[in-house]
Amino acid sequence: MPSQRYDCQDTRKDQRDVNMSSETGQRRLVRESIEELTPYHPVESPESLAGRLGMPLDMILKLDSNENPYGASISVQEALGAFDRYHFYPDAQAASLRERLAIYCGVRPSAILVGNGSDELIDLTLLSILDPGDEVVIPEPTFGVYRARTELFRGIPMIVPRTAGFDLNMPAMLDAITPRTKAMFLTSPNNPTGNLTPTAEIVQLLETGVLVIVDEAYYEFCGKTVMPLTQEFDNLIVLRTFSKWAGLAGMRVGYGVFPEAIANQIWKVKPPFNVSVAALQAAEASLDDVEYLHLSINRIRNETRRMRRMLGTIEYLQPYPTVANYVLCKVIGVDAHVVHQRLADHGIMIRAYGGPLREYLRFSTGRPEDTNRLLTALQRIGEYD
Ligand SMILES: Cc1ncc(COP(=O)(O)O)c(C=O)c1O
Repeated sequence: MPSQRYDCQDTRKDQRDVNMSSETGQRRLVRESIEELTPYHPVESPESLAGRLGMPLDMILKLDSNENPYGASISVQEALGAFDRYHFYPDAQAASLRERLAIYCGVRPSAILVGNGSDELIDLTLLSILDPGDEVVIPEPTFGVYRARTELFRGIPMIVPRTAGFDLNMPAMLDAITPRTKAMFLTSPNNPTGNLTPTAEIVQLLETGVLVIVDEAYYEFCGKTVMPLTQEFDNLIVLRTFSKWAGLAGMRVGYGVFPEAIANQIWKVKPPFNVSVAALQAAEASLDDVEYLHLSINRIRNETRRMRRMLGTIEYLQPYPTVANYVLCKVIGVDAHVVHQRLADHGIMIRAYGGPLREYLRFSTGRPEDTNRLLTALQRIGEYD
């Protein structure tokens, strides 16, 4: 019992000694490298925004995290309703799902690892490969987790700015490679810019011998993949997720295809029961219903094109091309953060940024009626200003 532990004087004294910094005599409760990290500020939840606005939760329009507005396949609900083994721990090896994924991806099951979202696989990869001071090449702007987690695992992010059109700056990417480079992150399509990374460039970077992590979180929306290259290169990791195309963001299930030498190490550090039975069931049920999911993906693709056209009619927005389920826009003549705030006041959540993307906004694709509501709100904001 905790109270017994706190009642024990000796244990408390030992604890105090451990937590004292010998130089300053001050208490140090956590690792110094953790104290130095920038605090994480999660975006406001739809529940909190609904409460703040006094709006029913189902009136909040969530276009900030690239989720599937049509939700999961009905087979997921059926499978979860019929499942009767919630009282047992999950299969630590996720063997059944990995076999199914091996067929889906055209690779061996032993190459696949399943994670609590692909976020967890990013962590497990960095935890397995990085010694303090190792470098990780990251072309920005991109998914912010790569940089933050590289720092957390005591690596050094080597940031390579993309070109004005958000393509890779290949000479700069190659220049960024040093003897301390352990890996590089490529995202295709890239989040938040929506563009593909050409296969020829990925191959050129693979040929340097550096470990290349290609994040294909949005693969199903564009159908372009480098998965076949995993048969050819033993320095390629491909990450995928069920969060976006399969409508399972809340379930937390992602997977990766890994070179054998790295997979073997990740198995050692993976928490045994990292993916819940519910998530495993939901992922398998999604693979049973790929045909239905493709219908919803097609609706999202069409709606993305329509939304992009309509965003282009807003005079202060300049939308970029995209092959994913979101559109990045440059905001001209108005403060992007004011637009973000005004939309939130209307119950519409979109993504704003700091740093080099301060003047940009990202809109996730919703249903046609969601796009219409968004457009009406954006027009009103324009008139107000
Ligand atoms: C490029 C990219 N990778 C990974 C993720 C995380 O996915 P998951 O929900 O599987 O952790 C996201 C989510 O936004 C993403 O955009």
